[in-house]
Amino acid sequence: MHKQALTAIEARITEATKPYEVITVSPISPLIGAEISGVDLTRDLSNQQFDEIHRAFLQHQVVVFRDQNINAEQHKALGRRFGKLHVHALQIIRTEGQGEIERLEVKATQASKYVAGEGWHTDVSCDLEPPKISMLHIDTIPDIGLGGDTLFANMYLAYDQLSDPMKAFLEGLTAIHDGALPYTGAYGYKPDTPFERHEHPVIIRHPETGKKILFVNRGFTSHIVQLTRQESAKILEMLFRIVEMTPALTCRVRWTPNTLVMWDNRCTQHHALWDYYPLSRHGWRVSVVGEQPTA
Ligand code: SIN
Repeated sequence: MHKQALTAIEARITEATKPYEVITVSPISPLIGAEISGVDLTRDLSNQQFDEIHRAFLQHQVVVFRDQNINAEQHKALGRRFGKLHVHALQIIRTEGQGEIERLEVKATQASKYVAGEGWHTDVSCDLEPPKISMLHIDTIPDIGLGGDTLFANMYLAYDQLSDPMKAFLEGLTAIHDGALPYTGAYGYKPDTPFERHEHPVIIRHPETGKKILFVNRGFTSHIVQLTRQESAKILEMLFRIVEMTPALTCRVRWTPNTLVMWDNRCTQHHALWDYYPLSRHGWRVSVVGEQPTA
């Protein structure tokens, strides 16, 4: 890692944080992720619980709650505390618009041809206003008691990895994020109405923390608008590989039944591992609509 990346890491490690009073926050890696205990998500959160969870979420980007036996309504109510619920195009297609559309079912069985989220990505970055928060509740883990971990990457630090000339080059560039890339290309859905496809800055600023983020991902980003196709492919490959080649930017969450993980979709990427075939894993994801990403 170069000096600037080390400085960013040092700043994060030595960051002074106000103590938490009503929750316990235990980091799972020095650079991303924390477990939160002392809260029951089946109940309405007090304002102080909400504020502290929000603060821990902004600080650690990924927060893990264990043993939360929440039902659909409680899951959605938790999401609504943070904003408007996102409706996923695939859930509309799969349910034909009937039944549960404010939660995305995340399911893999022996019959699955793919699993959701296998590969580094930011959820639904093809939307004009991609989700700011995803809350995945896994109720069933593979019956050997392990498998299906999810990896998360810190995209603030991915930005900090870049040299000054590369940062300057990327500032002002925009990229297309295309839902057809995963949903048709990888999963095979061909709906009558095209999937969302939008242009976002390559470097964005987090609306709450004000910090800069590298905002391209292998799942959804098709090309950088201002470059030739060949230049774009090479630059994107280099940027995607920062996440793939830098394990220090990541944490790995091991699921236990009834774990809920909430991540900041603006400044993370994640990758679901499919290492449990032919076993099954099941859960539901609630996402909260965010703002249009801005430079
Ligand atoms: C996803 O939201 O991409 C799925 C993540 C997972 O199943 O762990």
